[in-house]
Amino acid sequence: MLIVIKHPLITHKLTQLRRKDTLTRDFRYNVSEIAALMAYEITRDLPMKKVSIETPVSKCETTELSAGVVLIPVLRAGLGMVEGIVNLLPDAKVGHIGMYRDHETLKPITYFSKFPESLSDSVVMVLDPMLATGGSASAAIKVIKENGAKTIKLVSIVGAPEGVARIEKDHPDVQIYLAALDSRLNEHGYIIPGLGDAGDRLFGTI
Ligand code: PRP
Ligand code: URA
Repeated sequence: MLIVIKHPLITHKLTQLRRKDTLTRDFRYNVSEIAALMAYEITRDLPMKKVSIETPVSKCETTELSAGVVLIPVLRAGLGMVEGIVNLLPDAKVGHIGMYRDHETLKPITYFSKFPESLSDSVVMVLDPMLATGGSASAAIKVIKENGAKTIKLVSIVGAPEGVARIEKDHPDVQIYLAALDSRLNEHGYIIPGLGDAGDRLFGTI
């Protein structure tokens, strides 16, 4: 299940990310802002519960969020998406999973994982700006499921059709959110037109 979130602000900021001359500080800022803007759509179906409260003037029957939210950035580049979302969901817990793509084989290697307890009754948002072959996201989701998560949303900024197909095949229960679905991968597994290596551009390691 794929949702491509279309909004002029998101598209404008994504254009800044795509420009090859964008500085690290602007790249970082725009990744965070796009994640925050995407959060409105991603949180649209969060479960709510009825509550009775008192305003300064009367009783009020209303609703509030009922499930916990856990954000799991895929290191490194997913880290850039945390702040924008956590500003809107200040009670969200944050787990981490470290994966990198072997540059020869493009296969994902897991090098770190640390999750909060109670993944099973939380809405888990896996954050990674790039969904290319889908190998990293698929492997990350597998580990997260093995740790008990049941409701998982994959939040990426740019995706390739190959990556979307991989997640739909491996994890048909996972909702995928993108800000843009690009046209294809090149022979090195980079998204075309894409924005280059997200981790390197975010952390200035080019
Ligand atoms: C990038 C990106 C994803 C992965 C996507 O990470 O952040 O995790 O590639 O590619 P895939 O869909 O083909 O698996 P990278 O491996 O470059 O690691 P880094 O974030 O540490 O730079
Ligand atoms: N990882 C990136 O950072 N960029 C791509 O285009 C593909 C994988």
